Amino acid sequence: MKTETSPNPAFRRILRLSGATWFCVSVLSQAIFVVYILGFYGRRTVTGDYAGWNDRQVITGHVAGDDIGNLVFALHVLLAVLMTAGGILQLVPALRRRFPAFHRWNGRTFLTLAVLMALSGLWATWVRGSYLSIISGLSVSLNGVLIVIFAAQTIRHAVARRIAVHEVWAMRLFMVASGVWFFRVGIMAWVILNQGPRGNNETLTGPADIGLSLSSYLLPLAAYEIYRIGKGTRSTSLRIAVTGMVAALTLVTMIGAGGAAVFMWLPALTSPQ
Ligand code: HEM
Repeated sequence: MKTETSPNPAFRRILRLSGATWFCVSVLSQAIFVVYILGFYGRRTVTGDYAGWNDRQVITGHVAGDDIGNLVFALHVLLAVLMTAGGILQLVPALRRRFPAFHRWNGRTFLTLAVLMALSGLWATWVRGSYLSIISGLSVSLNGVLIVIFAAQTIRHAVARRIAVHEVWAMRLFMVASGVWFFRVGIMAWVILNQGPRGNNETLTGPADIGLSLSSYLLPLAAYEIYRIGKGTRSTSLRIAVTGMVAALTLVTMIGAGGAAVFMWLPALTSPQ
């Protein structure tokens, strides 16, 4: 059938537009996440109010006398600012085109910070014992392990000058490195769409918590692979299906990102120090 084999430019455009919309929503939301970390943890750290980290529901946060644990916590959240901001800049097409040298160095920095985030997160989880339940600890740890593996693959292909493959691994790295942000957006979208918690509990061991936690990095990875298939396919029906999926995910991201900003991050900025 003609429609199954001809690359329909209209659907190609719609798919690109859906991807670009998702990208803009995500960039805006990640920027608000950065402002939250700076405004909440950054402000308290700079003014020496370390105990104030616990003004939010952290797992361990600040513990008097635990200098190493407190230092790792501070590094983890403050490196999160640099990594997330670097990730946003890395994806802006105009910057990539006009400043290739900056793009290369920012990419290397992002990759290094992502690995440091994963290692400090694994340390906090299993050495400091900052986990709500074994299952939530294991899930975020798998996210951390994938970050390290994907970073190694990204470097391996860059060194071997397999640039196209390197770029695919870099995008996979971005997806898993954004897992913590996706998790918050996913939880908010879930709660808003269900008009309240459903299958969630305080220790993140409810069926919805486990599903959301695993989905926070596995779903974006899967969506990226499907998006790549949609971009490359000559089948119009497959491209329509992929476009529908990207549009639906964009809508869910919008709901979750809006909820996270309004209910999680912006109130933390206005809470008294
Ligand atoms: C790579 C992206 C990551 C980012 C941007 C990130 C960001 C953050 C932020 C902002 C917090 C403070 C809590 C909050 O206000 O939400 C936090 C806490 C924490 N993170 Fe991460 N994180 C990342 C990766 C990881 C990984 C891979 C792990 C585990 C393997 C991890 C383990 C933890 C733990 C255990 C805490 C809680 C510490 C406590 O409450 O004492 N993080 N993270």
